[in-house]
Amino acid sequence: MKINSIVLSAGKGTRMKSEKPKVIQPVLGYEMVNHVLKALHEAGVENNLLVVGYKKDEVLASINSKFSFDHVEQTEQLGTGHAVLVTKEKLANEEGYTIITSGDTPLVTSETFKSIVNFMDEKASDLTVLTTTYPDPSGYGRIVRSEDGSLERIVEHKDAKDVELTIDEVNTGVYVIDNQKLYKYIEMITNDNAQNEYYLTDIIELFKNGGEQVDAFCIEDNEQVVGVNDLVALERVNSILQQRINKQHMINGVQIINSASTFIGPNVKIGSGTIIYPGNVILGTSVIGQRSVLKPNNTIEDSQIGNETNVGPMAYLRSEAIVGDNCRIGNFVELKNTKFGNGSKSAHLTYIGDAIVGENVNIGCGVITANYDGTNKHKTEIGNNSFVGSNVNLVAPVQVGEDVFIAAGTTVTSDVEDNKFVIDRQPMRIKTKK
Ligand code: UD1
Ligand code: MG
Repeated sequence: MKINSIVLSAGKGTRMKSEKPKVIQPVLGYEMVNHVLKALHEAGVENNLLVVGYKKDEVLASINSKFSFDHVEQTEQLGTGHAVLVTKEKLANEEGYTIITSGDTPLVTSETFKSIVNFMDEKASDLTVLTTTYPDPSGYGRIVRSEDGSLERIVEHKDAKDVELTIDEVNTGVYVIDNQKLYKYIEMITNDNAQNEYYLTDIIELFKNGGEQVDAFCIEDNEQVVGVNDLVALERVNSILQQRINKQHMINGVQIINSASTFIGPNVKIGSGTIIYPGNVILGTSVIGQRSVLKPNNTIEDSQIGNETNVGPMAYLRSEAIVGDNCRIGNFVELKNTKFGNGSKSAHLTYIGDAIVGENVNIGCGVITANYDGTNKHKTEIGNNSFVGSNVNLVAPVQVGEDVFIAAGTTVTSDVEDNKFVIDRQPMRIKTKK
């Protein structure tokens, strides 16, 4: 069975009170819509169509290029039903099922997508909507069932009568629909409702009136289907995903001392035996090796740390900082776009940017690479076994050879060959006080 998907992502997200399009708000450093595409990709769905509108270029630029997707523009956001209607030109000829989901529902797993598809097959259903129950269902569309328990229709919160508002089963906004039938009925949706919007949810009744089979697939795990409409819900999905990710790392042998204060992005890899103290934020494509120790309060973004390396407390590794094995990166050390060789150490108060540091190098306290001349960034290289004394400035571009000793306080402004001793210091004077 061919499976397509439509990911609704055209809305502004007014309730977020932000100019940034809602679907690219990050959850653990990764845009919501990328979480959705990741789950679809893991479920084997590759024919994905994104409906974009509000700040579409910004949205499209944020999509991880490893996902296969096409897009269609909804120039005016007239509602979820209208958003699906604009996909007609691109999808109407496809066979099979179409998963419809939203860029603001980032936690649905690939297993759930697969389960609904299997359910569709077993039931020979034409349309299955994913539902769940919430103790407080405010804001969600409610699932209205007939006396025999079958799905009757969905009523939006704003259109619901008092009795309907007491229903705790809600629409998650995820549907699997027979593609040919979807486009047969989608044009019949009207905007005759409280918000004057074209509601996709009306498709249930249209299918039923047309004699098609509609079903509801209710999942118990209501945390998976939280829809993000405001910043309160964004915080909630962050914490739900945080616990889910941390739990998996712990099962894999990573010791997390306090999960609530440890934030690990969905694409981060961590080796077993590594210990993570509270306050670490590890995002992007970061990779941490085995048996390393992350002391409290480090930020690590798109960076790599080898095996048996100690980091922190309070270090900042960003933009491709690549630290080897048996290293030490201490407090208030910042590394950016830097390779830091095996066995090297930088224990305190240092900035190293755009650099290649060899093996077994010692970087003293207060060392700075002056990598920026106000216009361009320049490279610093430091050879194996060199010693960079405290408070040294390395004015890039500069190359320091192997086994070099740079005395404390030196400002290095030209290249240094192997085995040299470098010092630029005024002789200290001691004078008698007047
Ligand atoms: C929607 C459902 C509601 C469900 C909830 C689950 C409808 C009418 N309501 O409500 O039943 O309980 O999701 O989270 O479908 N979008 C477009 N174009 C538009 C409008 C919206 O692309 O014209 C996109 C938005 O960017 C968003 C998604 O569709 O990603 C859902 O829109 P949103 O406004 O968040 O709908 P809800 O009020 O959450
Ligand atoms: Mg929503």
